[in-house]
Amino acid sequence: MIHKATEASSRIKLRDGHTMPWIGLGVWQTPADQTAEVVQTAIEIGYRAVDTARLYKNEDGVGEGLSSHPDIFVTTKLWNDEQGYDSTLRAFDESARRLKRDVVDLYLIHWPMADKGLYVESWKALIKLREEGRIKSIGVSNFQEEHLERIIDETGEVPVINQIELHPFFQQRKLREFHKRHQIVTEAWRPLGKGAILTDSTIVKIAETYNKTPAQVILRWHLQNDIAVIPKSVRAERMKENIALFDFELKAEDLAKIDALDRVDGRMGPDPANPQF
Ligand SMILES: NC(=O)c1ccc[n+]([C@@H]2O[C@H](COP(=O)([O-])OP(=O)(O)OC[C@H]3O[C@@H](n4cnc5c(N)ncnc54)[C@H](OP(=O)(O)O)[C@@H]3O)[C@@H](O)[C@H]2O)c1
Repeated sequence: MIHKATEASSRIKLRDGHTMPWIGLGVWQTPADQTAEVVQTAIEIGYRAVDTARLYKNEDGVGEGLSSHPDIFVTTKLWNDEQGYDSTLRAFDESARRLKRDVVDLYLIHWPMADKGLYVESWKALIKLREEGRIKSIGVSNFQEEHLERIIDETGEVPVINQIELHPFFQQRKLREFHKRHQIVTEAWRPLGKGAILTDSTIVKIAETYNKTPAQVILRWHLQNDIAVIPKSVRAERMKENIALFDFELKAEDLAKIDALDRVDGRMGPDPANPQF
């Protein structure tokens, strides 16, 4: 199912038959008034996908940046306070309007928020929107095994991707195995660990060996593990660096050294089992 990432424009085949770029630009914390320009710069550099969310308050800027690029893959997400069947349908309409897209490539439930008990209803709304042709592919974010099992059991519909916190300090191997069994693509948010892993001595040493930057080594580790990535940067130089990943390959021994950086306490963001917002 998964086609390997061999160049910046390489795409993964999703379980529903659509394809998605392996690398996208993340725009969390990209200021709304800079977003259109940042997105345009990213496209010039070679990015073919953008990851936003209603929460980021910059869907308008993404829509503006993409206005003459209908071919760029765009992902947005349903925020927690909009969960529920009818409210999801309304929230999607608003997001699509801000993005200036009649059809959105990928729509995700941002967090399961199990205590609210609404994620199955929200998932049913995503299925309906896909059936109506408003969304090409539907997926989730921050879902754990039990949440994935529940939506699959109750609707028979398997999400195409689960976007989760994932980086060398927090590798989520068990969940990735579950994804593999169900042909769900694993997409890493915070793939660079928001910068914190860039100074790790193992990563720095490996980067020196290949004459690459720590960010490139980390992103290459993701791709060689069949993990899609959405690194965020507002700076053109870093955007360029973060997709220049295809003229080197990490050897098995270096992949293993990075595998060994996994930590039980490596999570940086909220825990989906008990999210505090
Ligand atoms: N689904 C979810 O719940 C969820 C949660 C969090 C994030 N996300 C998505 O995932 C995307 C990425 O995650 P993230 O933004 O948290 O973290 P990240 O991509 O791991 O790291 C971004 C940070 O690293 C810096 N950076 C980027 N490239 C660099 C490089 N080559 N060298 C040094 N520093 C670099 C950026 O600063 P500059 O911008 O100043 O370059 C920024 O501070 C988000 O933008 C968002 O789209 C999703």
